[in-house]
Amino acid sequence: VVRYGAKKAAQAGDPQAMLVADPATRADPRQVFERIRASGPLVKTRISNITVNHRVVHELLRSDDFKVTELGADLPTPLRWIENKTRSKALHPLKPPSLLSVEPPEHTRYRKLVSSVFTPRAVAKMREMVQEKADSLLEELVAGGREVDIVDKYCAQLPVAVIGTILGVPDSDRQRVLEFGEMAAPSLDLGLSWEQFNRVEDGLEQFDAWLADHLAELRRNPGEDLMSELIKATEDGVGLDDQELRATAGLVLAAGFETTVNLLGSGIRLLLDHPDQLDLLQQDPLHWPTAVEEMLRLESPVQLTARRAKRDVTIEGVPVPEGGLVVLVLAGANRDPEVFDDPYRFDVTRTNANKHLSFSGGRHFCLGAALAKAETEVGLKTLFDRFPHLRSAGEGIRRDTRVLHGWASLPVDLGQPA
Ligand code: HEM
Repeated sequence: VVRYGAKKAAQAGDPQAMLVADPATRADPRQVFERIRASGPLVKTRISNITVNHRVVHELLRSDDFKVTELGADLPTPLRWIENKTRSKALHPLKPPSLLSVEPPEHTRYRKLVSSVFTPRAVAKMREMVQEKADSLLEELVAGGREVDIVDKYCAQLPVAVIGTILGVPDSDRQRVLEFGEMAAPSLDLGLSWEQFNRVEDGLEQFDAWLADHLAELRRNPGEDLMSELIKATEDGVGLDDQELRATAGLVLAAGFETTVNLLGSGIRLLLDHPDQLDLLQQDPLHWPTAVEEMLRLESPVQLTARRAKRDVTIEGVPVPEGGLVVLVLAGANRDPEVFDDPYRFDVTRTNANKHLSFSGGRHFCLGAALAKAETEVGLKTLFDRFPHLRSAGEGIRRDTRVLHGWASLPVDLGQPA
C-alpha cells in the first residue's frame, strides 16, 4: 500500500497531518485543535500553515490575497506523481472547472447561473417539498421493523430525494447516485491507500458517465428542473460549455447530498447523547433553527478547507510566501473560546451559534446553506415528532472520510410512533 507523506508526518506528531490522516483524531479532534490554538493564531507546520482561529479563518476566506486551491496539491509524495500519470479524465470536485476551484471571472459566471435557485426565498418555497419527502420516508420506516440504521434509511435518503427533485434526477437513479457519491467522497482527502484511491477514481468516473447520460436525456426531453434550465442557458450561447455544465451540475448534485447526510446523522447523535437538549426542543420547537446552527457549529460536516496566497503576505506575524498554503480548520474555528463560551458544550439555545464557519465564507460561501438548514430542521423535527421515544441501539460507525465528517451508520430503536 502506497500512502501519502501525510501518514508519516501524522505519526511524527505534525498537527496538520494528524487532522487529515489520523483516524483517532477524527473521532476526537479536541486535543489537536487545542494544541494548534495554543501555538498561535496561524501556525507553521511541516507541510504548510494551519489555523483554528475564528478571526483568521473568517478574514482569509474573504481576503483578496488568497485564492481557492486543492488541499493535497503540495504534498511531495510518490502517489501524487503516479496520480498525475493515471488520473482519469473524470471531473473532480476540487479541480477546474468545478465552482469550488475557480475564481472570477469564471466563478462569477458559473455561480450566477445556479445561485437564484438557492436563495433563502426560493428555499422557503421548497420547504413543503422537503416536508413531503420526510413524511414519506418516515411512513416507510413505520412499515419496517423497530430497529433501523437511521443513516441508511433516512439521513442519506432525504437529501438525495430533495436535491434529486430540484435537479430532475429520476427516482430510479437515486440509489445509484448515492453509491457513486459514497465511493467518491474521499476524493477530498489525503492519505488514501491505493485501494481507496482506485475506488474514488471509479466513483468519479461512474458518476461522470451517469451525468453525461442524464444531461443527454434532459437535452432530448427537458423538464422543469434546474439541470434543464442550465442546459437551456448553455444552448442560448451565454452559459456554460459542455464540461462546465457537467462540472457545475455535478457539484451541485454531489454537494447537495454528500454534506447534508452528515449533518442529519450528527444532529441525531447529538440529541440522543444530550436528552436534556432534546427535551428543550420537544417542549419548545422554536428552538429548532438555533439547534441546527449549533449542530453545524459542533459537528462541522466539512471539517476544513484551504486557501493559497496570491502574493507574499504576513498573517499574524507569520510570513506566507506567494503560493503558500493555509489550511483553514472550520471545525476548530467553531470552537474558538474568544467567540463561543464553553465551546465544547452542546447548547440548543446558544445565542451566537450562527457565527460558525461551517459553510465557509466570502465568494465561495456554500450555495446550498439555506437549503441544508431547511432540510435539517424539517428532517429532524419531523423524525422526533413522529418517533418521540427514539433511542440509540448501538455504537454506530463513523464515516471513513477526513474532510467530510459524519456517521456511516447509526443503529436506533424507533420506539412507538406518535
Ligand atoms: C460550497 C459546506 C450543503 C452546494 C461549500 C463550502 C462549504 C460547504 C464549507 C465551501 C468550501 C470552501 O470555501 O472551500 C456545506 C455543508 C452543507 C452543505 C456543511 C450541509 C450541511 C450544500 C447543499 C448544496 C451545496 C445542500 C446544494 C445546493 C454547494 C456548492 C458550493 C458549496 C455548489 C460551491 C460554492 C462556490 O464555490 O461558489 N459548501 N454545504 N452545499 N456548497 Fe455546500
